[in-house]
Amino acid sequence: MVEIKKLTGLMGAEITGVRINDGIPDDLADVLRHALADHQMIALRGLHPTIRQQKQLTEVFGPVMKLPYVEPTPEDDEVIAVLKEAEECNTGVFGGDWHSDFSFLENPPAGSVLSAIEVPEVGGDTVWASQVAAYASLPEKLKKIVDGRRAVHIGAPYGVTHQPPEEERSGASIRMIRGDPDADQEILHPAVITETLSGRRSLFLNPIYTTRFEDMSEAESAPILAEIYKHCTRPDFSCRFRWRAGDVAIWDNRTSLHYATNDYDGIRRLLYRTTFSADPPAA
Ligand code: SIN
Repeated sequence: MVEIKKLTGLMGAEITGVRINDGIPDDLADVLRHALADHQMIALRGLHPTIRQQKQLTEVFGPVMKLPYVEPTPEDDEVIAVLKEAEECNTGVFGGDWHSDFSFLENPPAGSVLSAIEVPEVGGDTVWASQVAAYASLPEKLKKIVDGRRAVHIGAPYGVTHQPPEEERSGASIRMIRGDPDADQEILHPAVITETLSGRRSLFLNPIYTTRFEDMSEAESAPILAEIYKHCTRPDFSCRFRWRAGDVAIWDNRTSLHYATNDYDGIRRLLYRTTFSADPPAA
């Protein structure tokens, strides 16, 4: 029997009793979609999916999306390996800052499915923060600024004009494709979006890729964004997940931010990530 247990007061749920070896029946798919809309992150323990099963699971939420800028696995170009080798010490880690994935695309990923192949016994947790909870408790003066306003997102780390210094990049195991002029383009998205299934409102700003509000300069936007980021990454809105090999986590990339902790130098960590799309984010 499928059971859903909340992981924290405001976001994240663990779902037990899910088996996908013989396909994913419609009623299970429906339960999973609603659970994701309700909790923004759902974790399925001990699933051990094959790549084919992981892609089937991903399709429950939306068409599988091929990601730009990250070199995919040789086995399947819709899968990326989130890998840090044991010998990659004192480096950055892929996803090691609060962010949502690729919000600078015209149609950013709707969500991701991450499957743990090899993980440290301790360390390498992933943390998510609910942007639904963050918006709900955003101080009125900030709500007045973000409501009805659009923000500019730029894929600066992958473009021509801005690239992070070598030491801030993730380790050598993940090859990023950089220097693409398309990534320097300004893309506008609503700063507050409405989640399709639940109808709840969520902040949609990205500490890595959002540079300013549409009608403000970077200098005018910076202190406002800093105040919002301080609020929206508060531990109160977060869920920290400790991985075991075989676990799968699925998250809504539009209504949550996430952060890969980098506290396991000397130990190999490998997860496979697939990504799904949906209609572009809407106010
Ligand atoms: C990511 O998708 O940002 C990586 C998350 C993780 O490695 O924990």
